[in-house]
Amino acid sequence: MDLHPSSSTSSDLGLRRKMLVFLIALLASSALSIAGASPTTNKKLPALVKLRVEGDVDTIFEAPVLTQGHNVTTAQGGTHHCDGTNFGVNPTPGPTCTSALDDGSLHQRRFIWDGPFDPPDFNFDDYLITSIGGVAQTDTQFWGILLDFQFTPVGGCQQQVTHGQEVLFAFDAFSKNFFLKASGPVVAKVGKPVVVTVIDGTTGVAIEGASIGGVLTDANGHASLTFGTVGLKKLKATRSDSIRSNAVEILVV
Ligand SMILES: *[C@@H]1O[C@H](CO)[C@@H](O)[C@H](O)[C@H]1NC(C)=O
Repeated sequence: MDLHPSSSTSSDLGLRRKMLVFLIALLASSALSIAGASPTTNKKLPALVKLRVEGDVDTIFEAPVLTQGHNVTTAQGGTHHCDGTNFGVNPTPGPTCTSALDDGSLHQRRFIWDGPFDPPDFNFDDYLITSIGGVAQTDTQFWGILLDFQFTPVGGCQQQVTHGQEVLFAFDAFSKNFFLKASGPVVAKVGKPVVVTVIDGTTGVAIEGASIGGVLTDANGHASLTFGTVGLKKLKATRSDSIRSNAVEILVV
């Protein structure tokens, strides 16, 4: 039973009816567009990955990168797909190791990368990455691609990535014994020692004799560091036979 004046009630009802019809139409159209789009434009979600590029003498890039599968272009190789469907490795397009590299290079304008596509003797529908950030392969030193510290079994445009993974492009990767992975506290106090740890990211074994913050790690992969000044310290571990580590960031207060 309606106790409101009839004129106002009917206009309210009319408005509500119109809104309802509009909402139903909106829902129906979006449902249709979702249902209609999914079989043809089926695509995996973009991924936020940690991209790291370790060159011969220093780190070329180390930052999070949001990437999705897309075409990429190199001077030597031209433009080709790079979404994991390369060579039929994945049925559904999605973000890849090399799309992450390309997004790191393009969007943050830090470095360029190059390489031929499907060169002779490499029939794999993918790029052979020959240089990144001006560091070019030699007769004996090549760029390697690792995902979560494991060599990818397929090419960089074939290997898809998911949220949170670590994508590492490492120069001379195939002649190194270890891929260093460093960790430590987020905060330290001036004058108070803290322990940082270095392991091989691939196997998890402790790495002795790695240099980090000017100190060598012990047999447990530990180094005790004491900071004399406040500030954000960025430390990377190195060892001559290994690929240098990720940066550990310690805020000294
Ligand atoms: C992506 O590259 C392929 C070749 O691999 C080409 O056929 C296609 O037209 C390109 N797509 C876009 C949007 O540039």
